[in-house]
Amino acid sequence: MSFEARSTAARDALRFRFRGGDVALRQFSPRATVLDWLREEMGAKGTKEGCAEGDCGACTVVLARLRDGRIAYEPFNACILLLGQLDGAELITIEDLVANGELHPLQQATVDAHASQCGFCTPGIVMSLFAGYHSGQPMTYAGLCDQLAGNLCRCTGYRPIIAAAMETCNGAPADRFAATSQERAAALAALADHRDVFVGGEAAFFAAPASLESLAALYARFPDATLVGGATDVGLWITKQLRDLKRVIWLGRVAALDAVGESGDGALSLGATLALEDAAPLLGAIHSDLSELMRRFGSKQVRASGTVGGNIANGSPIGDLAPALMALGGRVVLRKGDKTRALPLEDFFIAYGKQDREPGEFVLAVEAPPLAVLQRYRAFKVSKRFDEDISAVMLAVRVDLDGRCILGARIACGGMAATPKRAEQAEQALAGANLDQPASWEAARDALSRDFTPLTDMRATAAYRMTVAANLLEKALTEISGAGAPTRIGMLHAAE
Ligand SMILES: Cc1cc2nc3c(=O)[nH]c(=O)nc-3n(C[C@H](O)[C@H](O)[C@H](O)COP(=O)(O)OP(=O)(O)OC[C@H]3O[C@@H](n4cnc5c(N)ncnc54)[C@H](O)[C@@H]3O)c2cc1C
Ligand code: FES
Ligand code: FES
Repeated sequence: MSFEARSTAARDALRFRFRGGDVALRQFSPRATVLDWLREEMGAKGTKEGCAEGDCGACTVVLARLRDGRIAYEPFNACILLLGQLDGAELITIEDLVANGELHPLQQATVDAHASQCGFCTPGIVMSLFAGYHSGQPMTYAGLCDQLAGNLCRCTGYRPIIAAAMETCNGAPADRFAATSQERAAALAALADHRDVFVGGEAAFFAAPASLESLAALYARFPDATLVGGATDVGLWITKQLRDLKRVIWLGRVAALDAVGESGDGALSLGATLALEDAAPLLGAIHSDLSELMRRFGSKQVRASGTVGGNIANGSPIGDLAPALMALGGRVVLRKGDKTRALPLEDFFIAYGKQDREPGEFVLAVEAPPLAVLQRYRAFKVSKRFDEDISAVMLAVRVDLDGRCILGARIACGGMAATPKRAEQAEQALAGANLDQPASWEAARDALSRDFTPLTDMRATAAYRMTVAANLLEKALTEISGAGAPTRIGMLHAAE
């Protein structure tokens, strides 16, 4: 059925839960953010605005959604979350935590542990911890560091904050949200009508198709519309570039677009709207370096919202998934109308800001082949900070072995060119090298300087990038040869 035919049945209102009731909005700007709605429309000023670009966590809110019949609580940066993305969810803010005049256990522990000085970051920190509290898992020190990686506190220091959290996040949640989970789950289930959503008119709209067919038809009709996965990039176009987005198609309600499966040749297939947080364990099962990479991808808030498809479709030269999956032999699957095509990731990125994607075509899935028995893999992200930082250089390599001989290699880098790119000359130079003869790797190190002419920018100089890439290749080969033990910063964090 076409979108036109379906849209007669489309819902013309956004619906979500807030403060114990249903909200239905028939008029709102497609570019409105949750933070602006809260602070400007609802007068709910407890949620703060710091950076307005997803980096500081001052604006953290929690969305509760039904997952396999249970409520899942996840933290989001309200400053870059579009209002329309609330459809079907329950929005929980800091003001909701007090019950009958009593502070939430997390708020009380924050007071008792003196974990707040100026207090600007505190609502966001408590909301991030609230999501962790409802995970039902006792939080470890390392887990709390991860939970708070997207929350910046400039004056208290994290020791008392972690102390408050360790005391509270230690078992099954016992607050009014836990006590009312059945009623709230029923209310969320009642919102899940699986209908297309179309709010606005042809000139300006927020649409959330419910099926692949509806999405394909709507995007064919409005190929200039802005597709939104998690809005962790698009949100910044609004808050930093002040772009006036008029036609927005949010992909988060498209059934099965977040599906996880296996392609015909056994590759892991990740649906385009699969959240990065959900992709992390699946990629980590291919190789432990992908676990650390995903742990360092933004923050909990960014990974809860950001999608696998968005990270590839944005064509960023410093996106992390593209080089990591390119080295594995990954593919992107595209759909336009009812036609799909798959292409190797390296062919998708044509030039800076230019991808092999036709008008009306969207990313359907991203495929990551598993490693064969005689294949070895390493992936490294180098950035100024461990947490919440964009790569200065990212290098991933897969080598195919015959005993100690390297038959072939796939090397891909981020941050080294205008697109994520394979190092073809280095790959050729590595073919025939031997793991026991480090001198035979030298040609590949040298060849990297013919593969790439990196830029100097605020993250790193060209010379630094070149040296780091060559060193990372050598580190990978040293580890694979067995001559050097793996060292990762995440190992230190986990051991603390
Ligand atoms: C604080 C912060 C930290 C970050 N850290 C990292 C990091 O460590 N590593 C990293 O790689 N990135 C990082 N990012 C960038 C961003 O989070 C990722 O690129 C993310 O994967 C984008 O996904 P999204 O769904 O939010 O994309 P969106 O913002 O929704 O979309 C991004 C682009 O892709 C298009 N698009 C989205 N989905 C599709 C689709 N299915 N088909 C076609 N086009 C589509 C959109 O139209 C847009 O052009 C960070 C961002 C922030 C704000
Ligand atoms: S205001 Fe800083 S993350 Fe939203
Ligand atoms: S208490 Fe002041 S920024 Fe955290």
